[in-house]
Amino acid sequence: MLKHLLGIEGLTLEQLEFLLGNAGQFVEVGTRELKKVPALRGKTIVNLFLEPSTRTRASFEIAGKRLSADTINIGASDSSVVKGETLLDTARNLEAMAPDILVIRHKESGAPHFLARHLTNTCVVNAGDGLHEHPTQALLDILTLRQHFKTKQRDVRGLKIAIVGDVRHSRVARSNIWAHRLLGNQVTLVGPPTLVPAEFADVRSFGGSLKIEHNLARGIEGADVVLCLRMQLERQTEHFVPTLEEYSHEYCVSERMLSRYAPDSVVLHPGPANRGTEISGEVLDGKRSLVTQQVNNGVAVRMAVLFALATGSHSTDIAGGVGGAA
Ligand code: NCD
Repeated sequence: MLKHLLGIEGLTLEQLEFLLGNAGQFVEVGTRELKKVPALRGKTIVNLFLEPSTRTRASFEIAGKRLSADTINIGASDSSVVKGETLLDTARNLEAMAPDILVIRHKESGAPHFLARHLTNTCVVNAGDGLHEHPTQALLDILTLRQHFKTKQRDVRGLKIAIVGDVRHSRVARSNIWAHRLLGNQVTLVGPPTLVPAEFADVRSFGGSLKIEHNLARGIEGADVVLCLRMQLERQTEHFVPTLEEYSHEYCVSERMLSRYAPDSVVLHPGPANRGTEISGEVLDGKRSLVTQQVNNGVAVRMAVLFALATGSHSTDIAGGVGGAA
């Protein structure tokens, strides 16, 4: 049974499948006219977002509300962190109000793990910690791929995945690597040596072998999935690329490159996307793009995570929880 969701690292394949299975059922709730079920009535969820966020924050809030939980949101500028309070003091004070779940996004890697160690009664969900992990993003990425490949009579296992761009600073890449490792997929990391460091291929880091490729054409060749990453300038402490123009010249994922080297591929991007830097507008808006579906699935995945933690449920049958209208 999961007490917290801190990362994909350390999850078993069974836990991953369990969350994805439940998320699959919650997708249906989002298609109803009344998008609300009573599953978490009386539960309280605090969303503490100490870093900017549009998609993840909105989707955790919508997920909590669709489950009938009481949700409150605290952002960096309206929290007492700006008055000098420590993260632990903030979290302990929030815990004194007896929430069931604390969802946290923080610029420091390990912040959710730290809170999970120090809080006694609250389940902690990592909504992105520094450049470490973003587990619900990887879950929604895999759910999206599962839905897509099901229409092609293919499983989400045995796929060839290219992760392209600023891998070094990407928590999305790290969580996806762990998830694809559990699924037994073949992952190639693509980008300049400064942004795709050789240590990523180290077996000790990811418990399996990853390919690294510094040439975009070779990196995406034959890929089933191209996962584009945002250039995370806000996390870069030094110059990792000469200029953005030169970077995009070599690494921007364009339709021309995809149709030539990965003609059957689909494209993922966690957002926010920088059009023309890591992905062309044509690809982002084009037929290969699963980006809107990713965002849509984000709500169902977060519902599944909140439901599993708040109920301590480890059953794959959630029908009782989602059946009636609230
Ligand atoms: C990602 C994040 O914040 O890690 N975005 C997201 O959650 N949808 C990726 C990014 O910011 O580039």
